[in-house]
Amino acid sequence: MDTNFLTPYRFHNGLTVKNRIVMAPMTTMTSFHNGMVTTDEVAYYARRGGGPGLIITGVANVEASGKGFEGELSVASDAMIPGLARVAAAIHQDGTRAILQIFHAGRKSNHKILRGEQPLSASAVAAEYPADSEVPRAMTAAEIDQLIADFAAATRRAAAAGFDGVELHGANTYLLQQFLSPHANRRTDQWGGDLTRRMALPLAVIAAVKQAAAAVERPFIVGYRLSPEEIETPGLRLADTLAFATAIRDLVDYLHLSMGSYKRSSLNDKQDTQPLLAKFAAITAGHLPLIGVGSIERPADAQATLDLGADFAALGRELIREPNWVQKVAAGDAASLRVKLSPADMAELAIPPVMQDYLRESFGEVIHFTTNARAVADYQAQLAPMEGFEKKL
Ligand SMILES: Cc1cc2nc3c(=O)[nH]c(=O)nc-3n(C[C@H](O)[C@H](O)[C@H](O)COP(=O)(O)O)c2cc1C
Repeated sequence: MDTNFLTPYRFHNGLTVKNRIVMAPMTTMTSFHNGMVTTDEVAYYARRGGGPGLIITGVANVEASGKGFEGELSVASDAMIPGLARVAAAIHQDGTRAILQIFHAGRKSNHKILRGEQPLSASAVAAEYPADSEVPRAMTAAEIDQLIADFAAATRRAAAAGFDGVELHGANTYLLQQFLSPHANRRTDQWGGDLTRRMALPLAVIAAVKQAAAAVERPFIVGYRLSPEEIETPGLRLADTLAFATAIRDLVDYLHLSMGSYKRSSLNDKQDTQPLLAKFAAITAGHLPLIGVGSIERPADAQATLDLGADFAALGRELIREPNWVQKVAAGDAASLRVKLSPADMAELAIPPVMQDYLRESFGEVIHFTTNARAVADYQAQLAPMEGFEKKL
């Protein structure tokens, strides 16, 4: 079988990556109350550094109002840099590159997480999922200017901490996606309106972040993650996100989809059975690399992801269960890959106790515990848990 995913990749700006396997961003829920890195978190990344070409961290908020859940990383102040530097160093083993994922949760937060403050968003419209989502406050023009500056400052801090790049989290219904979405964005000023106008905020953030990246004196990459569709009406449809991908394909260094299955086709248009990955690959080819993701467990899945047109294959849950995935496959030992998670292996896998709880409570059916007979195979034909947040955290 082909294992093209073990070949290196060179970005336009000269950054080289040793293979095409990416660790998908996965929050560990293990940071301190203020978003500072904990030693448990460093150990979790150290256990996984060295195999994948790229490791993308769990998401970090760029300002306090952007915190989406307890135990989330923060990159909102310079005080966070020393801890983040420990994460980058833990990832940087045997040439693995480190990417910090950055975001603002927007309306996907609540007043408890925000210590009494009302969540912010493009407009004062509550999310449909989960049903008890709070109504956010529409951001003022000054707050939007501040947000753009905060994304740039977060990028500067990521570089200072030694990361090789940042990923803008424009997926999973968080704030960047909220501005793009006709459901969350009902503004009538320069940041809202038709699709072109709803792209204005993500484009302004990309421009500011690229400017900060250009000031880094080594190759530093800026990736963008997006969710291909929303299921509410009004909501983002495939035509919107394909147009957005076209708009940014010469602006960022990679495009990363957020999907529960790399094979998935449209959620809204069941007649259209072409895999979404192939649709986005048609847009990214010759412009920028594409990262595919979703239920990749075996080498054949990673190869199939590349065969559909992706340049990288991101593994999420599988790298929780099997930190030595790349080393085993490279050694011809795919037979020993662990595709199930035993509760007895948690310590050996350096999974922090808070994350163990989170995996049991929010991902019990899909993390593939050896002890759970009701486990579902993959997230095919449904939103992945983080994509729509149907469970309240
Ligand atoms: C425990 C856990 C935490 C996650 N946290 C994030 C996150 O912080 N940012 C993000 O973009 N996606 C997050 N995701 C989604 C994953 O990046 C990935 O898209 C999803 O798990 C599908 O890939 P998989 O089937 O290989 O697990 C998370 C997923 C899991 C299981």
